[in-house]
Amino acid sequence: MSPEHNNKLASSHAPLCILGLETSCDETGVAVYHSERGLLAHALHSQVAMHRLYGGVVPELASRDHIARTLPLIEHTLTEADCTLADLDAIAYTRGPGLAGALLVGAGLATALAMAADKPLIGIHHLEGHLLSPLLSDSGLTFPFVALLVSGGHTMLLDVIALGDYRLLGETVDDAAGEAFDKSAMLLGLGYPGGPELARMASFGNPQAFALPRPKLHSGDLDFSFAGLKTAVLTKVRQLGTNSCEQSRADLAAATQEAITDVLVSKAMEATRLTNRSTLVVAGGVGANRRLREKLDQACMKAGKHVYYPDLQWCTDNGPMIAYAACRRLQAGLASASRDYAFDVRPRWDLAELVSTASFEHRATAN
Ligand code: KG4
Ligand code: ZN
Repeated sequence: MSPEHNNKLASSHAPLCILGLETSCDETGVAVYHSERGLLAHALHSQVAMHRLYGGVVPELASRDHIARTLPLIEHTLTEADCTLADLDAIAYTRGPGLAGALLVGAGLATALAMAADKPLIGIHHLEGHLLSPLLSDSGLTFPFVALLVSGGHTMLLDVIALGDYRLLGETVDDAAGEAFDKSAMLLGLGYPGGPELARMASFGNPQAFALPRPKLHSGDLDFSFAGLKTAVLTKVRQLGTNSCEQSRADLAAATQEAITDVLVSKAMEATRLTNRSTLVVAGGVGANRRLREKLDQACMKAGKHVYYPDLQWCTDNGPMIAYAACRRLQAGLASASRDYAFDVRPRWDLAELVSTASFEHRATAN
């Protein structure tokens, strides 16, 4: 790489053009993001149809599919963006957390391309991608804000003070909210992925028909727990028996969605109160849930807070959030893209490692 190129990445104001790859789980996402022109192109391949046969993600199949899809998607996206590898300032990939094999495909391809095209490489934290995804839309959202990060593997409340300055307010002590949706959906005999299926069924159910627990609703902290709810759903499913009618399953789906979203809304609002923030941001796959959005809209309006959601297409895994996070990190000087092509992946990567431990250790306690 030329010295000018190094200087460009080090400078906060030079425009940057980033190729981003997301392969942490069951979606192959590719994007080209330009710091001044915005999102130039993106493409996504979902493996849902393939995994549906097995009722969940099969890691080995996921890796193999990423191998087959990623390069053609990159070629397509570069063509759509009307640029070549030579026009890129860096190549970004999801370094973790996620499935080891799936991450390795993205990291390996990104590294090979970067070496071949003499471009620097940057590994991105998947959750930071989700966290910053609402900023992809031109919504006027600015730091600081409280973020409710609700995905298939994580449920967290964070005080997002600035780019790279995140304080953990609370998190799940067992299952994630997405897992609660997925596991309850499975108990109700619904397909994979369970969240959207359960939400669809809930739309014609009566949430009052079943009484389900709201775990940790009054725990006095901002942590979550969803494992008990899953057990309660299992008990109700057993009580209904094998001949349960469609309407009672819809009622149970609605009651489950209501219980999960009640806890998420209550804790998110408590987090904005404790931190005195006026803005709440929801990110991650469960952020696509309509009922959650309805209830947060109402609660925020009542409390005089603003609430922002990513575009529906950026709620679940996607390439733009990775390219965007890389762009913001590089421009802020928080990360450097490297030409040391000894890549690694971090299947288990705590978000706390991205930020100073001191700031992450702070946890709010309700009083
Ligand atoms: O963020 P994401 O795509 O992947 C992870 O990083 O985990 O989130 C996937 C999760 C799954 O658990 C899925 O069931 C859930 O998000 N999800 C939903 C909805 N759409 C996706 N949950 C409830 N309602 C939805 N509409
Ligand atoms: Zn995700």
